[in-house]
Amino acid sequence: MPSSARLHQAALPAAEAIVVTPLSLYIGAQVDGVDLSRPLPSAQREAIRAALLRWKVLFFHDQHLDHAQQVAFGRQFGEPTVGHPVFGHVEGHPEIYSVGRDRFKARFTDERLVRPWSGWHTDVSAALNPPAAAILRGVDIPPYGGDTQWTDLVAAYNGLSPTLRAFVDGLRGEHRFTPPEGAEARPGFSEPLAVRPLVSEHPLVRVHPETGEKALFVSPTFLKRIVGLSPRESEQLLELLFEHAIRPEYTVRFKWRPGSLAFWDNRVTAHQPPSDIHATDLPRQLYRITLVGDIPVGPDGRPSRTIAGEPVLAHPAA
Ligand SMILES: [Fe+2]
Repeated sequence: MPSSARLHQAALPAAEAIVVTPLSLYIGAQVDGVDLSRPLPSAQREAIRAALLRWKVLFFHDQHLDHAQQVAFGRQFGEPTVGHPVFGHVEGHPEIYSVGRDRFKARFTDERLVRPWSGWHTDVSAALNPPAAAILRGVDIPPYGGDTQWTDLVAAYNGLSPTLRAFVDGLRGEHRFTPPEGAEARPGFSEPLAVRPLVSEHPLVRVHPETGEKALFVSPTFLKRIVGLSPRESEQLLELLFEHAIRPEYTVRFKWRPGSLAFWDNRVTAHQPPSDIHATDLPRQLYRITLVGDIPVGPDGRPSRTIAGEPVLAHPAA
């Protein structure tokens, strides 16, 4: 058993013990021994919070929650936002965002991914205060295909040479909520965006508000340019950083089951939704909530700034 799992078990009374099993060297752990459908004992809640900070994405199985239970689970760790600041929410459930297989078909004329990193993103990173965390629940899951990957942006930052780390420490980037490169937007995408634009300038290196760790805050789908560089310099440096940030050793890949739940720290990770499911008619339906985040701060103490749009705030409790 990994030492971290023993640590969590030792710290809790036997009836409340949870088992945390790491899935890679840097990122991802499976959590067993909890029932997420009910309020968590405080010791379990704190153990989950600690495991989230350490492993950055936690996976749970056999948790068949409904919408209200998913929101109630999230509320124990923060304030749920509205489902999605641009695309809204599931009817009757203001905090729930539907992640269905065909949602991109409705938004883009061509959803093919033109570059290996073009689907990787940090959720809503174009907002001034991107969500601190997200909780994704699997309901209809294909028997194969449809895996999701996450990458550890702290490990990615630490994996850069000291010289490049010192250079990117002082840079800032412009995040824009726009269609992926090569995918033209359908009206269902561009119209809501015209009403609710999202453009922000964030530090390229973000200091985690709880752990103090530095993360390479690149969100390849939304980070469009580096401020102060020429277009070609920006394009080439971003290409280097994007390619680096998704190196296999920084990532974990999750195979969903109905009743699986992924809970990630959105401040120091990016993730890649599956593109293979578009090649089949297999159903895939998940539901996401996000928790309100703070405004990122760089190593120099400078916070992010809004270029267009509103912060993503809490949805008031029903
Ligand atoms: Fe996402």
